[in-house]
Amino acid sequence: MSKPKSGAFDLKSWVDGRSKAVDAALDKFLPKATARPATIHKAMRYSIFAGGKRMRPALVLAAAEACGGTDAAAMPLACAVECIHTYSLIHDDLPAMDDDDLRRGKPTNHVVFGEGIAVLAGDALLTQAFEVAAQARGWPRYSHRDLVLEIAKASGSLQLIAGQVADLEGEGKDLSVAQLRYIHERKTSALLCCSVRLGGMSADCTPAQLKALTDFGYNVGLAFQVIDDILDVTQSSETLGKTAGKDVAAQKATYPRLVGLERSKKIAAQLTAKAFDALKPFKGRAVALEALARYLLERDR
Ligand code: IPE
Ligand code: IPE
Ligand code: MG
Ligand code: MG
Ligand code: MG
Repeated sequence: MSKPKSGAFDLKSWVDGRSKAVDAALDKFLPKATARPATIHKAMRYSIFAGGKRMRPALVLAAAEACGGTDAAAMPLACAVECIHTYSLIHDDLPAMDDDDLRRGKPTNHVVFGEGIAVLAGDALLTQAFEVAAQARGWPRYSHRDLVLEIAKASGSLQLIAGQVADLEGEGKDLSVAQLRYIHERKTSALLCCSVRLGGMSADCTPAQLKALTDFGYNVGLAFQVIDDILDVTQSSETLGKTAGKDVAAQKATYPRLVGLERSKKIAAQLTAKAFDALKPFKGRAVALEALARYLLERDR
């Protein structure tokens, strides 16, 4: 992440500070590495603390800020989405799925702990997410029921799982752009959208603010996966911390495969522009969200 021009919002220090706070909260929420059976708790912690970018928690906290909320109120929800995300990565990397041996710059969970424990570590993190979210407060407009529904729907068989199913079934096939968008909406955009919505809810946001956050999250989420597809082609494994070139090798349906690299970059920029537009109702108060959207478009990992 590059340094800001003077006077501009310093996203790097904003994210660094938030990431430290998220790590400390996750450390508190997760069972200790020594808790019996130690293997599973070591495996959960191994992937959670392997060095992810923490973009989903950052989106939760930035959305809360945009709606006048606090980090403290949003933190359990920020941790819950990171648990879901990390579980989805552990399972995504399994030999039965994308069969990857590098993640977050380290050997994947199943390489270190074996496939059985990796499946269980994913299961445990998914369950942990709900335990952690239940510790959020609940606010006048949004109850625990709303929070749980939000997370369950985004991660369930109509969204994140649906996307992963279609992604697997799409291998080696010539999908249409509409079919690829179906995959991206579900496997990636759903959880990013859920993240900003949860942040808004933790700030007791108005229905109009929730609508704006939903539009923002949907578009940023789509852009995020288009960029992920692009980086698989343009970056090295060392920069990414995961194996580059895997999508071509596995004949995955991706934007570069369907429309080429240059058109993919244009699409990502257009989606990000739509995300910016969605923030207009915040009248300049959504600085962190804006900076995150820009960074997610320009990132190299
Ligand atoms: C990777 O997500 C998986 C996708 C949905 C594209 P990230 O790029 O956010 O991965 P980490 O959390 O930084 O490891
Ligand atoms: C992963 O998509 C999406 C989820 C884990 C839900 P990818 O398979 O493209 O992610 P990477 O490239 O392995 O990080
Ligand atoms: Mg995958
Ligand atoms: Mg993968
Ligand atoms: Mg990918």
